Amino acid sequence: MKIFVASAWPYVNSVPHLGNLIGSILSADVFARYARLRYGKENVLFVSGSDEHGTPIEVEAKKRNVNPKELTDQAHEYDKKLFLDIWEISYNNYTRTESEIHKTFVRNFMLKLEKYIKIEEDEIPYCEYDKIYLPDRFVKGTCPYCGFEDARGDQCDNCGRLLTPKLLINPKCVLCGRTPVFKKTKHWFFDLSAFNDKIEEWIKNSQTLPENVKSVALSWVREGLKPRSITRDNAWGIPAPFEGAEGKTIYVWFEALLGYISATIEYFKNIGKEEEWKKFWFGNDVKSYYFIGKDNIPFHAVILPAMLMASGENYVLPTVIAATEYLLYEGQKFSKSRKIGVWIDEAPQLLDIEYWRFILIRLRPEEKDTNFTWREALRIVNTELNDDIGNYANRVLSMISRYFNGEVPQIKYEKLKDEDTKFISEIKEAPKKMSELFELGKLKAGSEEILKLARNGNSYLNIRAPWNLIKNDKEEAGNVLNIAVNSLRTLSIMLYPLMPKSAEKLYNMLGFKDIEREKWDLAGELVIKSSHKINEVSVLFKKVELNENDINKKLAEIRKNLEKIRPTLLR
Ligand code: MF3
Ligand code: ZN
Repeated sequence: MKIFVASAWPYVNSVPHLGNLIGSILSADVFARYARLRYGKENVLFVSGSDEHGTPIEVEAKKRNVNPKELTDQAHEYDKKLFLDIWEISYNNYTRTESEIHKTFVRNFMLKLEKYIKIEEDEIPYCEYDKIYLPDRFVKGTCPYCGFEDARGDQCDNCGRLLTPKLLINPKCVLCGRTPVFKKTKHWFFDLSAFNDKIEEWIKNSQTLPENVKSVALSWVREGLKPRSITRDNAWGIPAPFEGAEGKTIYVWFEALLGYISATIEYFKNIGKEEEWKKFWFGNDVKSYYFIGKDNIPFHAVILPAMLMASGENYVLPTVIAATEYLLYEGQKFSKSRKIGVWIDEAPQLLDIEYWRFILIRLRPEEKDTNFTWREALRIVNTELNDDIGNYANRVLSMISRYFNGEVPQIKYEKLKDEDTKFISEIKEAPKKMSELFELGKLKAGSEEILKLARNGNSYLNIRAPWNLIKNDKEEAGNVLNIAVNSLRTLSIMLYPLMPKSAEKLYNMLGFKDIEREKWDLAGELVIKSSHKINEVSVLFKKVELNENDINKKLAEIRKNLEKIRPTLLR
């Protein structure tokens, strides 16, 4: 089995915030780490990259009078370093849409869609001063319906009606305020309508796509898919390969989506195994997982599959598209301009990234929009991590040190009590339940199983009270601690995808090395045998005592310092 894992490619004009992190990057990493234990390292490929073309960046570059590539070079390096070095996201390949392999792949791929492409004429606003075709959002004017003077070319924020630039009264270029002219221009359209039935069937038959994805995709299909323009009159992008399309580029969404394939090709090319990429894109033995925010659903559940179908090459369609709802920050939307939220270059200076990983998975907006509050974040660290998991590990390991000199006691099966066998079966079941949920992209739900196991362990100790048993029946105390220490190994493996470092630390305390060589399918077995030596016990997690005032003060400080070092595009 091959498992392809992808996180949506972050648009490189801003630093991702916590909501972006949990929506795609971190969720995909947690899943990829799980999948490597479950399916074997060499059978998992995890890719993403910087999405760097499109108008916002072209406009930014114009404003600053520089080449867009100069801006995205810096921003890409900054993001890449954050992901790989600071957050230790375990990408096999983190690349970019400016990669030559990507650009070449996209141009060739587009030509394969020929049968479904038609050319149509369109009238697009053009600013003669800025010398740029203006996408809808770059034109403002008066709304013809309600008279609102600051309506955008795609929508009026006052009355909510959908608009086109042509409808605006007194349209203006948002860059210079001058009046644009409307120019006739040809565009290449991809005829999605040819895939209406196939997409509908695929969505309906899927046992693995989640409900939120199915319902968005089906509502698109029911309205009837329409041809979509895949070219733009922009300079910053991948040159359209069609005859007569000189000077035009491919619309950024249509090419970025193909990055999933080109990043796979690039990875295998780099390690000198050029043909191997096909193993992750063709055949029945592949499952593919896409981790995205909900605003990306139509692109991944309709446009990507339609392009894959249209290529005529039998690419594997997405198995799971795990689309998160929105994360709010203290009850509000994240906002760069209003500085509401925490960005991923700031966060590691507030809390250890292991804690962030755990907090964010626990608050993952899996079924509904979820509010991040500091109060809740600290509760998660102080009670779930520290009390439920950390204390449990500490209790078990210190008793083995104290009563058995750090040697795991023997298990005497004939002396097992009901509580013992019950806990043994809970240990066995926990990783199974977690993986069933993970396989559907339900990471928060899956993480519940970790806490359940730790809590069951704590109550098991309370009921069996080995500190009393030890006085009269050392063998029975030995049974309890043997089972309990085995549950810690199970816990460490289950914790690994969420908190790789802490899991390894626990695993080391248990007297083992290299948790990445564990196998998920053996996670629930009692494999620690008698006389195995455990290592010195140390504290796994610490409580975090911070109040909101401290946090906000610290954040303001961090922000001030970062403003000086963030690349231009990201300020
Ligand atoms: N850049 C897009 C966003 O930030 C996501 C692109 S996903 C891709 O919403 F697959 F198309 F690259
Ligand atoms: Zn202008």
